[in-house]
Amino acid sequence: MRAVVLRHPGGPEALRVERVPEPLPGPGESLIDVTLTGVNFDDLDQRAGAYPELAVPAVLGLEAVGRRRSDGRRVVALLRQGGGYAEVVAARDAYTVEIPAGIDDAQALGLFEQGTTAYGALLLAGRLRPGESVAVSAAAGGVGHLAVQLAVALDASPVIGLASTPAKRQFVEGLGADVALDPADPELAARLREATDGAGVDLFVDSVGGAVARAGLAGLAPFGRLVCLGWRPGAAGDDRTVDGPRAATDPGSAHDDDPWTVVDPTGAGHATGSADAGVVTLTTAQLARSSIGCAGFWMRHVVDHRELLRGIADRLFELAARGRLAVHVDRTVALHEVGAAHAAVAARSTTGKVLVDVRREV
Ligand SMILES: NC(=O)c1ccc[n+]([C@@H]2O[C@H](COP(=O)([O-])OP(=O)(O)OC[C@H]3O[C@@H](n4cnc5c(N)ncnc54)[C@H](OP(=O)(O)O)[C@@H]3O)[C@@H](O)[C@H]2O)c1
Repeated sequence: MRAVVLRHPGGPEALRVERVPEPLPGPGESLIDVTLTGVNFDDLDQRAGAYPELAVPAVLGLEAVGRRRSDGRRVVALLRQGGGYAEVVAARDAYTVEIPAGIDDAQALGLFEQGTTAYGALLLAGRLRPGESVAVSAAAGGVGHLAVQLAVALDASPVIGLASTPAKRQFVEGLGADVALDPADPELAARLREATDGAGVDLFVDSVGGAVARAGLAGLAPFGRLVCLGWRPGAAGDDRTVDGPRAATDPGSAHDDDPWTVVDPTGAGHATGSADAGVVTLTTAQLARSSIGCAGFWMRHVVDHRELLRGIADRLFELAARGRLAVHVDRTVALHEVGAAHAAVAARSTTGKVLVDVRREV
C-alpha cells in the first residue's frame, strides 16, 4: 500500500510517500480501507521530533475514515498510535465508531477527533451551562471552528472567537460567533470583558497558551473557567507572569483596579521572547480571591471510556444531521501533498479541517 513515511524527524519535506506492507491487525483491531485521513496539529509536533518516544520510521496520522474490511461498514477511527496517512490502517475496535447514513466521510472524520475535543473542552472539562459566555482561541482552526459552533448549539451567549486575521475573524463570525477578537490585541482581557458587558467570560477554551491564556484568565468572570487544550511554544513567547489580586498595601502597584494585569518581571515593559508559552503562573491566592477555575482536557481520557466516546460521537453526528454543526473543509490534499499541508497549518493559513484523500494519486 502507499503511505506517508517519516524516516527522521524534520520539516515538511521529511514526509515522503512510500510503498509499505499493509499493517497486521492485532487483537481487538480491524483493518480499514481508508478513504480520508486528516492533518492534526499534533502531527506537526510529531513530525518535528517533539515526541522523542516516537519510533521512526513511522506513519503519522491520528484518524481515518473508510470501510471496515471485515464487514464493509463505513467507520471512523481514532489512531492513538498513528498510522493514518495510509491506504489501509489497523484500528482499535474500541476507538472506532460506525457512521450513520447522512453523514459523509469528511464530516465524520472532522467530527470524531476534533469535534470530540471541542465537546470535551466545553462540556466535560468546562462544564458549560446554557446562557454562559464562552471564548475560544484558534477559533478558525480544526478544533476551534467546531467549538464555536458547538457553543452556539449549546445556547452559550455570547460566543467569542479569537483568530489572527480579519479573514479568519469573518469566518468565525460566519460560524455564529457573536464577537471575533484578535488574540494579539494587547488589550485582549479588556476586549473579553467588553464583549460580555463587563461581566467577564464564564468559559475560556484555550489551545495557544502564553499571553493568550493569561489574557483569558484576566478576562474571566467570578466562577469562570479556563480550559487548556494545548499550547504553542513561542506562540506568545514571553516570560511575563499574571500578577493576580494584590494586597491593598501592595506598594507601587499601578493596576490595583485590574488585578489580573500582566506584568513584566524584568521591568523592561515588553515581551522578552525567551520562554515557553506553556508557562502561566497562578497562585492559590489568585485562585481563591478570583473564584476562578483552571482545568485541562486530553482526548486520552475520553477514548479509554468506550461508552463515553460513543455517546459523544452520537451527539455530534446528531447535531450535524440537524445542521447545527458542520466541518468546514479548508482543503483536501493527496498523500504526496501532506508535507505541504503541514506547512500550511504551521503557517496559520488554514481554516477548519485539512483532509487527505489517500486514494488520489495526482
Ligand atoms: N487536548 C487534546 O486532547 C487535544 C486534541 C486535539 C487538539 N488539541 C490541540 O488543539 C489545538 C488545535 O489543534 P488543531 O489540529 O485544530 O489545529 P488548528 O487550530 O487547525 O491550527 C492551529 C491554530 O492555532 C493558532 N496558532 C496560534 N499560535 C500559533 C503558532 N505559533 N503556530 C501555529 N498556529 C498557531 C492558529 O490560529 P490563529 O492564526 O487564528 O491564531 C492556527 O490556525 C492544538 O494546540 C492541538 O494540540 C488538543
